[in-house]
Amino acid sequence: MGVGVLGTGHYAPSKVVTNKDLEKIVDTSDEWIRTRTGIEERRIAEDDMETSEMAYRASVAALEEANVKGEDLDLILVATVTPDTPFPSVSCMLQEKLGAVKAAAMDISAACAGFMYGMVTAKQFIESNVYKNILVVGAEKLSKITDWSDRNTCVLFGDGAGAAVMGEVADGKGILSFELGSNGSGGEHLYQDPESGYLYMNGREVFKFAVRQMPESSVNVIEKIGQNKEDVDYLIPHQANIRIMEAAREKLGISEDRMATSIKKYGNNSSASIPMALSEAVKNGKIKNDDLVVLVGFGAGLTWGAIALRWGK
Ligand code: UT7
Repeated sequence: MGVGVLGTGHYAPSKVVTNKDLEKIVDTSDEWIRTRTGIEERRIAEDDMETSEMAYRASVAALEEANVKGEDLDLILVATVTPDTPFPSVSCMLQEKLGAVKAAAMDISAACAGFMYGMVTAKQFIESNVYKNILVVGAEKLSKITDWSDRNTCVLFGDGAGAAVMGEVADGKGILSFELGSNGSGGEHLYQDPESGYLYMNGREVFKFAVRQMPESSVNVIEKIGQNKEDVDYLIPHQANIRIMEAAREKLGISEDRMATSIKKYGNNSSASIPMALSEAVKNGKIKNDDLVVLVGFGAGLTWGAIALRWGK
Protein backbone atom coordinates (compact mmCIF):
# COMPACT_ATOMS: atom_id res chain seq x y z
CA MET A 1 0.00 0.00 0.00
CA GLY A 2 0.92 3.65 -0.31
CA VAL A 3 0.38 6.56 2.05
CA GLY A 4 -1.01 9.68 0.47
CA VAL A 5 -3.42 12.59 0.55
CA LEU A 6 -7.15 11.84 0.68
CA GLY A 7 -8.34 15.46 0.70
CA THR A 8 -7.05 19.03 1.00
CA GLY A 9 -8.45 22.36 2.18
CA HIS A 10 -7.27 25.87 2.86
CA TYR A 11 -8.44 29.07 4.45
CA ALA A 12 -7.24 32.64 3.83
CA PRO A 13 -8.66 35.57 5.85
CA SER A 14 -10.73 37.98 3.76
CA LYS A 15 -8.79 41.15 4.67
CA VAL A 16 -6.36 41.99 1.84
CA VAL A 17 -3.33 44.21 2.52
CA THR A 18 -1.68 45.41 -0.68
CA ASN A 19 1.88 46.65 -1.23
CA LYS A 20 0.40 50.13 -1.69
CA ASP A 21 -1.16 49.85 1.79
CA LEU A 22 2.29 49.10 3.22
CA GLU A 23 3.81 52.12 1.45
CA LYS A 24 1.72 54.18 3.90
CA ILE A 25 3.25 52.63 7.03
CA VAL A 26 6.91 51.92 6.17
CA ASP A 27 9.50 53.29 3.74
CA THR A 28 8.95 50.80 0.93
CA SER A 29 7.45 50.61 -2.56
CA ASP A 30 5.18 48.31 -4.49
CA GLU A 31 7.96 48.03 -7.07
CA TRP A 32 10.60 46.94 -4.51
CA ILE A 33 8.34 44.32 -2.96
CA ARG A 34 7.23 42.87 -6.30
CA THR A 35 10.66 42.65 -7.85
CA ARG A 36 12.59 41.49 -4.75
CA THR A 37 9.99 39.04 -3.39
CA GLY A 38 7.20 38.41 -5.93
CA ILE A 39 4.54 39.43 -3.39
CA GLU A 40 1.62 41.59 -4.56
CA GLU A 41 -0.66 41.35 -1.54
CA ARG A 42 -1.22 39.29 1.61
CA ARG A 43 -4.14 38.33 3.86
CA ILE A 44 -4.27 39.48 7.47
CA ALA A 45 -6.55 37.90 10.08
CA GLU A 46 -8.86 40.02 12.22
CA ASP A 47 -7.91 40.34 15.90
CA ASP A 48 -10.39 37.70 17.02
CA MET A 49 -9.42 35.19 14.31
CA GLU A 50 -6.88 32.92 15.98
CA THR A 51 -4.61 30.31 14.42
CA SER A 52 -6.85 27.49 15.69
CA GLU A 53 -9.89 28.96 13.93
CA MET A 54 -8.04 29.25 10.61
CA ALA A 55 -6.80 25.67 11.11
CA TYR A 56 -10.38 24.59 11.76
CA ARG A 57 -11.76 26.17 8.57
CA ALA A 58 -9.05 24.60 6.41
CA SER A 59 -9.57 21.23 8.12
CA VAL A 60 -13.34 21.16 7.58
CA ALA A 61 -12.74 21.60 3.83
CA ALA A 62 -10.06 18.88 3.77
CA LEU A 63 -12.23 16.41 5.70
CA GLU A 64 -15.14 17.04 3.35
CA GLU A 65 -13.00 16.45 0.26
CA ALA A 66 -11.58 13.28 1.83
CA ASN A 67 -15.03 12.13 2.92
CA VAL A 68 -13.67 11.50 6.42
CA LYS A 69 -15.50 12.55 9.59
CA GLY A 70 -13.85 14.23 12.57
CA GLU A 71 -14.66 11.27 14.77
CA ASP A 72 -12.77 8.99 12.36
CA LEU A 73 -9.47 10.80 12.83
CA ASP A 74 -6.76 8.93 14.73
CA LEU A 75 -4.18 11.71 14.95
CA ILE A 76 -4.06 15.48 14.43
CA LEU A 77 -0.74 17.19 13.70
CA VAL A 78 -0.61 20.97 13.49
CA ALA A 79 2.54 22.66 12.27
CA THR A 80 2.70 26.22 13.58
CA VAL A 81 5.04 28.82 15.08
CA THR A 82 2.14 31.07 16.03
CA PRO A 83 -0.12 28.97 18.29
CA ASP A 84 -3.03 30.73 20.01
CA THR A 85 -1.15 30.17 23.29
CA PRO A 86 1.97 28.09 24.09
CA PHE A 87 -0.39 25.52 25.60
CA PRO A 88 -2.79 23.87 25.17
CA SER A 89 -1.70 23.09 21.63
CA VAL A 90 -3.56 24.28 18.54
CA SER A 91 -4.03 20.60 17.64
CA CYS A 92 -5.94 19.99 20.89
CA MET A 93 -8.13 23.04 20.23
CA LEU A 94 -8.74 21.71 16.74
CA GLN A 95 -9.51 18.24 18.06
CA GLU A 96 -12.26 19.73 20.19
CA LYS A 97 -13.70 21.92 17.40
CA LEU A 98 -13.80 18.95 15.00
CA GLY A 99 -15.30 16.53 17.52
CA ALA A 100 -12.37 14.23 16.80
CA VAL A 101 -12.96 12.35 20.03
CA LYS A 102 -10.59 9.46 19.43
CA ALA A 103 -7.72 11.44 17.93
CA ALA A 104 -4.38 12.03 19.61
CA ALA A 105 -3.12 15.55 18.98
CA MET A 106 0.17 17.42 19.00
CA ASP A 107 1.77 20.51 17.47
CA ILE A 108 4.94 20.43 15.42
CA SER A 109 7.50 23.22 15.61
CA ALA A 110 9.65 23.16 12.48
CA ALA A 111 8.71 26.60 11.15
CA CYS A 112 8.21 26.81 7.39
CA ALA A 113 9.22 23.17 6.94
CA GLY A 114 6.63 22.13 9.55
CA PHE A 115 4.08 20.75 7.10
CA MET A 116 6.76 18.51 5.56
CA TYR A 117 7.62 17.19 9.04
CA GLY A 118 3.90 16.61 9.66
CA MET A 119 3.32 14.67 6.45
CA VAL A 120 6.35 12.49 6.99
CA THR A 121 5.32 11.78 10.61
CA ALA A 122 1.82 10.84 9.43
CA LYS A 123 3.30 8.46 6.88
CA GLN A 124 5.15 6.51 9.58
CA PHE A 125 2.02 5.93 11.68
CA ILE A 126 -0.10 4.88 8.70
CA GLU A 127 2.56 2.70 7.13
CA SER A 128 3.07 0.83 10.38
CA ASN A 129 -0.68 0.20 10.61
CA VAL A 130 -0.96 2.09 13.89
CA TYR A 131 -3.35 4.76 12.57
CA LYS A 132 -5.66 5.02 9.57
CA ASN A 133 -6.73 8.67 9.16
CA ILE A 134 -4.40 11.52 10.07
CA LEU A 135 -5.09 15.22 9.70
CA VAL A 136 -2.00 17.34 8.98
CA VAL A 137 -2.37 21.12 9.15
CA GLY A 138 -0.13 24.14 8.68
CA ALA A 139 -1.64 27.27 10.26
CA GLU A 140 -0.17 30.66 11.05
CA LYS A 141 -1.15 34.07 12.34
CA LEU A 142 2.20 35.68 11.57
CA SER A 143 0.70 39.16 11.74
CA LYS A 144 0.70 38.95 15.54
CA ILE A 145 4.50 38.51 15.73
CA THR A 146 5.29 40.96 12.92
CA ASP A 147 6.92 44.29 13.72
CA TRP A 148 4.82 46.55 11.52
CA SER A 149 7.50 49.26 11.68
CA ASP A 150 10.26 47.01 10.27
CA ARG A 151 10.29 47.12 6.46
CA ASN A 152 12.75 44.21 6.31
CA THR A 153 10.09 41.80 7.52
CA CYS A 154 6.60 43.32 7.55
CA VAL A 155 6.23 43.26 3.77
CA LEU A 156 6.86 39.50 3.61
CA PHE A 157 4.33 37.69 5.75
CA GLY A 158 0.63 36.84 5.80
CA ASP A 159 -1.91 34.71 7.69
CA GLY A 160 -3.70 31.53 6.65
CA ALA A 161 -4.04 27.77 6.98
CA GLY A 162 -3.90 24.66 4.84
CA ALA A 163 -4.79 21.06 5.67
CA ALA A 164 -4.51 17.55 4.28
CA VAL A 165 -6.16 14.34 5.39
CA MET A 166 -3.70 11.50 4.96
CA GLY A 167 -4.40 7.80 4.74
CA GLU A 168 -3.88 4.64 2.75
CA VAL A 169 -3.77 4.92 -1.05
CA ALA A 170 -3.03 2.45 -3.86
CA ASP A 171 0.39 0.91 -4.21
CA GLY A 172 2.74 3.22 -6.13
CA LYS A 173 0.81 6.34 -5.14
CA GLY A 174 1.30 8.76 -2.27
CA ILE A 175 4.65 9.65 -0.70
CA LEU A 176 7.43 7.94 -2.66
CA SER A 177 10.42 9.52 -0.95
CA PHE A 178 11.29 12.27 1.47
CA GLU A 179 14.15 14.18 3.03
CA LEU A 180 14.08 16.05 6.33
CA GLY A 181 16.94 18.03 7.81
CA SER A 182 17.91 20.59 10.40
CA ASN A 183 20.90 22.73 11.29
CA GLY A 184 20.58 24.41 14.67
CA SER A 185 23.75 26.42 14.14
CA GLY A 186 21.75 28.67 11.82
CA GLY A 187 19.11 29.45 14.44
CA GLU A 188 20.36 32.99 14.92
CA HIS A 189 19.27 33.98 11.41
CA LEU A 190 15.54 33.64 11.97
CA TYR A 191 13.85 33.67 15.37
CA GLN A 192 11.20 35.20 17.59
CA ASP A 193 12.85 37.74 19.85
CA PRO A 194 11.94 36.82 23.45
CA GLU A 195 11.79 40.46 24.57
CA SER A 196 9.79 42.17 21.85
CA GLY A 197 7.97 39.03 20.75
CA TYR A 198 8.65 40.03 17.15
CA LEU A 199 10.05 37.92 14.37
CA TYR A 200 13.66 38.78 13.51
CA MET A 201 15.32 37.72 10.27
CA ASN A 202 18.72 38.09 8.67
CA GLY A 203 17.23 38.02 5.18
CA ARG A 204 20.47 37.66 3.27
CA GLU A 205 21.67 34.67 5.30
CA VAL A 206 18.33 32.89 5.04
CA PHE A 207 18.28 33.65 1.33
CA LYS A 208 21.71 32.08 0.82
CA PHE A 209 20.72 28.96 2.73
CA ALA A 210 17.41 28.66 0.87
CA VAL A 211 18.71 29.03 -2.70
CA ARG A 212 21.15 26.21 -1.98
CA GLN A 213 18.86 23.91 0.04
CA MET A 214 15.59 24.02 -1.91
CA PRO A 215 17.03 22.95 -5.26
CA GLU A 216 19.28 20.35 -3.59
CA SER A 217 16.46 18.72 -1.59
CA SER A 218 14.13 18.75 -4.60
CA VAL A 219 16.67 16.87 -6.69
CA ASN A 220 17.47 14.46 -3.84
CA VAL A 221 13.88 13.21 -3.47
CA ILE A 222 13.61 12.67 -7.21
CA GLU A 223 16.90 10.79 -7.40
CA LYS A 224 15.88 8.61 -4.45
CA ILE A 225 13.05 7.14 -6.51
CA GLY A 226 15.13 6.76 -9.64
CA GLN A 227 13.17 9.39 -11.54
CA ASN A 228 14.53 12.19 -13.68
CA LYS A 229 13.96 15.89 -13.20
CA GLU A 230 11.89 15.90 -16.41
CA ASP A 231 9.42 13.51 -14.80
CA VAL A 232 8.26 16.14 -12.27
CA ASP A 233 4.79 17.40 -13.18
CA TYR A 234 4.29 20.03 -10.48
CA LEU A 235 6.49 21.80 -7.94
CA ILE A 236 5.20 23.29 -4.71
CA PRO A 237 8.02 25.17 -3.02
CA HIS A 238 7.66 27.05 0.25
CA GLN A 239 6.35 30.47 -0.77
CA ALA A 240 9.07 32.67 0.76
CA ASN A 241 10.51 34.59 -2.16
CA ILE A 242 9.89 34.16 -5.88
CA ARG A 243 13.64 34.39 -6.53
CA ILE A 244 14.33 31.42 -4.22
CA MET A 245 11.45 29.48 -5.78
CA GLU A 246 12.79 30.20 -9.25
CA ALA A 247 16.15 28.73 -8.24
CA ALA A 248 14.44 25.43 -7.43
CA ARG A 249 12.34 25.53 -10.59
CA GLU A 250 15.36 26.19 -12.79
CA LYS A 251 17.34 23.42 -11.13
CA LEU A 252 14.55 20.99 -11.97
CA GLY A 253 14.25 22.51 -15.43
CA ILE A 254 10.46 22.73 -15.37
CA SER A 255 8.28 25.38 -16.99
CA GLU A 256 6.79 28.33 -15.09
CA ASP A 257 3.20 27.06 -15.28
CA ARG A 258 4.18 23.92 -13.36
CA MET A 259 5.18 25.73 -10.16
CA ALA A 260 2.77 27.03 -7.49
CA THR A 261 3.07 30.80 -7.01
CA SER A 262 0.43 31.62 -4.42
CA ILE A 263 3.06 33.94 -2.86
CA LYS A 264 1.70 36.66 -5.18
CA LYS A 265 -1.56 36.96 -3.26
CA TYR A 266 -0.75 35.42 0.12
CA GLY A 267 2.89 36.34 0.83
CA ASN A 268 4.85 33.98 3.06
CA ASN A 269 2.56 32.00 5.40
CA SER A 270 5.33 29.89 6.98
CA SER A 271 4.06 26.37 7.69
CA ALA A 272 0.75 27.15 5.95
CA SER A 273 2.33 28.10 2.60
CA ILE A 274 2.79 24.61 1.18
CA PRO A 275 -0.59 23.14 2.18
CA MET A 276 -2.42 26.28 1.01
CA ALA A 277 -0.65 26.10 -2.35
CA LEU A 278 -1.30 22.35 -2.57
CA SER A 279 -5.00 22.74 -1.87
CA GLU A 280 -5.31 25.54 -4.43
CA ALA A 281 -3.43 23.55 -7.06
CA VAL A 282 -5.81 20.61 -6.57
CA LYS A 283 -8.87 22.87 -6.79
CA ASN A 284 -7.55 24.67 -9.90
CA GLY A 285 -6.87 21.39 -11.67
CA LYS A 286 -3.12 22.01 -11.76
CA ILE A 287 -2.47 18.63 -10.14
CA LYS A 288 -4.02 15.60 -11.77
CA ASN A 289 -4.22 11.92 -11.02
CA ASP A 290 -0.83 10.19 -11.35
CA ASP A 291 1.14 13.45 -11.44
CA LEU A 292 4.55 13.43 -9.79
CA VAL A 293 4.50 16.34 -7.34
CA VAL A 294 7.47 17.70 -5.39
CA LEU A 295 6.84 19.62 -2.17
CA VAL A 296 9.83 21.41 -0.68
CA GLY A 297 10.21 23.77 2.26
CA PHE A 298 12.81 25.40 4.49
CA GLY A 299 12.69 27.71 7.46
CA ALA A 300 13.73 28.76 10.94
CA GLY A 301 15.75 26.26 12.91
CA LEU A 302 17.16 26.00 10.38
CA THR A 303 14.96 23.22 9.03
CA TRP A 304 14.13 21.81 5.64
CA GLY A 305 12.11 19.04 4.07
CA ALA A 306 11.10 17.70 0.69
CA ILE A 307 8.63 15.06 -0.47
CA ALA A 308 8.10 13.35 -3.82
CA LEU A 309 4.46 12.40 -4.12
CA ARG A 310 2.55 10.44 -6.77
CA TRP A 311 -0.85 12.12 -6.76
CA GLY A 312 -4.05 10.09 -6.46
CA LYS A 313 -5.75 7.49 -4.30
O1 UT7 B 1 10.01 31.63 5.43
C1 UT7 B 1 11.06 32.15 6.15
C2 UT7 B 1 12.23 32.24 5.34
N1 UT7 B 1 12.50 33.59 4.92
C3 UT7 B 1 12.99 33.82 3.72
O2 UT7 B 1 13.12 32.93 2.91
C4 UT7 B 1 13.47 35.17 3.36
C5 UT7 B 1 14.79 35.07 2.66
N2 UT7 B 1 15.32 36.38 2.30
C6 UT7 B 1 14.73 37.14 1.35
O3 UT7 B 1 13.71 36.77 0.77
C7 UT7 B 1 15.40 38.42 0.97
O4 UT7 B 1 16.67 38.46 1.56
C8 UT7 B 1 14.60 39.67 1.42
C9 UT7 B 1 13.35 39.80 0.56
C10 UT7 B 1 14.25 39.60 2.87
C11 UT7 B 1 15.45 40.91 1.15
O5 UT7 B 1 15.80 40.98 -0.21
P1 UT7 B 1 17.30 41.25 -0.65
O6 UT7 B 1 17.32 41.35 -2.10
O7 UT7 B 1 18.15 40.18 -0.01
O8 UT7 B 1 17.57 42.65 -0.04
P2 UT7 B 1 18.69 43.08 1.01
O9 UT7 B 1 18.39 42.54 2.35
O10 UT7 B 1 20.03 42.76 0.40
O11 UT7 B 1 18.49 44.63 1.02
C12 UT7 B 1 18.70 45.43 -0.15
C13 UT7 B 1 18.25 46.86 0.17
C14 UT7 B 1 18.75 47.36 1.53
O12 UT7 B 1 19.11 48.71 1.38
P3 UT7 B 1 20.66 49.14 1.28
O13 UT7 B 1 21.28 48.62 2.54
O14 UT7 B 1 21.18 48.45 0.05
O15 UT7 B 1 20.58 50.61 1.18
C15 UT7 B 1 17.54 47.23 2.40
O16 UT7 B 1 17.56 48.16 3.46
O17 UT7 B 1 16.83 46.89 0.24
C16 UT7 B 1 16.43 47.55 1.45
N3 UT7 B 1 15.15 47.05 1.87
C17 UT7 B 1 13.98 47.55 1.43
N4 UT7 B 1 13.71 48.57 0.61
C18 UT7 B 1 12.41 48.86 0.37
C19 UT7 B 1 14.88 46.00 2.69
N5 UT7 B 1 13.56 45.84 2.82
C20 UT7 B 1 12.97 46.80 2.06
C21 UT7 B 1 11.65 47.14 1.77
N6 UT7 B 1 11.41 48.17 0.92
N7 UT7 B 1 10.60 46.47 2.29
